[in-house]
Formats: sequence, structure tokens, C-alpha cells
Amino acid sequence: MKILAIESSCDETAAAVVEDGRKVLSSVIATQVAEHRKYGGVVPEIASRRHAENIVPVVKQALIDADITLEQADAIAVTHAPGLIGALLVGVNFAKGLSLATGKPLIPTHHLRSHIASNYISNKELKPPFLCLVVSGGHSHIVMVEDYTKMRIIGKTRDDAAGEAFDKAARTMGMPYPGGIELDKIAEEGDPNAFKLPHPVVNGSPYDFSFSGLKTAVINLIHNASQKGETLPVADLSASFRKAVVDCLTDNFLKAAKDFNAKTLVIAGGVSANSLLRKNLEMLCKQSNLQLFMPDKSLCGDNAAMVGSQGYYEFLSGNIAKADLNAVATLPIDYR
Ligand code: KG4
Ligand code: ZN
Repeated sequence: MKILAIESSCDETAAAVVEDGRKVLSSVIATQVAEHRKYGGVVPEIASRRHAENIVPVVKQALIDADITLEQADAIAVTHAPGLIGALLVGVNFAKGLSLATGKPLIPTHHLRSHIASNYISNKELKPPFLCLVVSGGHSHIVMVEDYTKMRIIGKTRDDAAGEAFDKAARTMGMPYPGGIELDKIAEEGDPNAFKLPHPVVNGSPYDFSFSGLKTAVINLIHNASQKGETLPVADLSASFRKAVVDCLTDNFLKAAKDFNAKTLVIAGGVSANSLLRKNLEMLCKQSNLQLFMPDKSLCGDNAAMVGSQGYYEFLSGNIAKADLNAVATLPIDYR
């Protein structure tokens, strides 16, 4: 089954053709990062306009690259939630139009479930059940993936998402948006023990995260230093911050694995590209005899191939939308 998939939840307009959930026939991404960089973050109105401009050429290119016509696609999958509402609406309305015009089934796909599905593309042998750490710009979850479309939230962030914390700390250090990627690179040159930063825990909820205190600690260090006319060593501060965030993520994730007796661990989302997170988890899982799966770095960020993968499993589970499908800004991963 060939699925034409569309993604427009944030600042990438993407389309892909994916066969039987695992084989990517094409994947096209038009990123708007350079334009939003001027403002230090995503400007929702600009994102919506660019999606509207890019969606036709991006979808056309995905069909050309896959060497199929629209008629040869068996279904259309689209990210309908969660994300920026104006951005999501562009993809949802376009997909609805294609579905109405061709009579092909329309598959609503949850963005975070799609991030998890990026692993089905990179790791052909991976099948649920597994425990997944989903860390993106907007969300940080520990999820028990009981089946392809059956999820149970074990823990989540109480405030900032991991990616958001990375981006805000990086911006205060003067790095361009999205700073998480830059901070990860600069941290490679620094000493992770140079600064003592807090290791926030959520009392009574051992699997939940809290990153806002950690982010504020870094911002305060920088502001206090600048008031004294001093500058802090950015590489050391980046390395210390990265280690603090990664320690919080890995501690809770491995505790959940132990308590829920999960033997297969998976990571997903933009932050799963983080070099220290990948390195430390590889080491810790090896020590504890746990199997670890990660998406290729090229599939960690937003793309439509992952939507085509998850869309396939949503289709198999009977999740087909009608013409009244709407975009939804906030929707829990275990919504159905
Ligand atoms: O999943 P994603 O592409 O978009 C959302 O669904 O939010 O995640 C984007 C987030 C951004 O905050 C970005 O800074 C972060 O992922 N990110 C990273 C790295 N690469 C991307 N954070 C830390 N280290 C990285 N290497
Ligand atoms: Zn995403």
C-alpha cells in the first residue's frame, strides 16, 4: 500500500510517499528555518503563508520522486494534530481536497506518533511493545507504545519541553534559532563539569520532567556575569547544560524501563538527534542489557516519511477521517 503523506505542523512543509509503512519511496522537505531565524523563533503567521505557497510544489515533487501519479497512491495521510493551528490547517485542507477529488481514504495522523514511527523506517525489525522517549521542541514524554496505535503516557514534562529548554538556553548564549542543534555542536568542545547546574525532579512523579528551573539557572548565570561585565565560556556552559538535560532524560527513562519491565527502548523527536543523549543511552542500555532503537539522524526532525509510516498503521487500525476532519492544536498522544 502506497501512502502519500503530508506534514505542516510547524516550520517544515513536507510530503512523502511510503510503502507499507516501512519503505520510503520519496521524502521532500521545504524548511522555513532561515526565515524564522531572523525573529529568534517560529512566527506562526509566516509559517502558515509559506506552507500555503510550498505545499503544491512539495507534494508534486514527492510524487515525481516516487515515480507515481496521484491516482497510484492508495491513501492520503496528514498531520492533523498537534501543532500550530494555522500551519496544520494548510496541510489538513490540502489533504482533504486531494481525498475528495480522488476518492482516496484520508488518514489523520498524530505528529508525536509519527515521530515514534520514524523508528519503523530506520529499524525494520522494530515492533511494539516498547518504551519510547519522545523529545521534541514542543513535547517531552515517556510513552509505553503497547501497539502501533495504542499508547500509554508514563511521564511528561510539567513545564518546558526538552527542545524548548535547549533553544532558550542557546538563544541566551547568542546562538541562532533553532539553538538546540548549535548548542549540541558547541558542547562537544566544552567541559560538562565546569558548571554545577540543578537536576530538577518532580516530587512524587518519578517519570515526569521539569526543565524550566534548569533553563532559568543558565539564563541567570549569563545575566549575572554580563552585569559584572564578564563573559562565560560558552562551550563549557553548553556542555554543562547539555549534560544536565540529558541526565534528567536518561535517569527517568531508565527508571521507567526498570519499573515497567521494558526491555526494548526507543527514542524519537528532534532532540533524539542530540549526540550526548544517543551516546549515553547506547552505553547505559548496553550496561543494563536493554535493546535500544534510534531513528536515523535525518529522520529525527519534522518530515513526512514518518507520517506515511504511522499513517499506514492508523489505516490498518481503521482510523479513517471523514470530510469534516479538522486540525487540532493540542491533542494527547493516547487520544484513541
Ligand atoms: O521534533 P522537532 O523537529 O519539532 C517539533 O515537533 O517540535 O523538534 C525540534 C526541536 C528543536 O527544539 C531543536 O532545537 C531540537 O529539536 N533539536 C535538538 C537537536 N536537534 C534538534 N536539540 C538538542 N540537540 C540536537 N542535536
Ligand atoms: Zn516534530
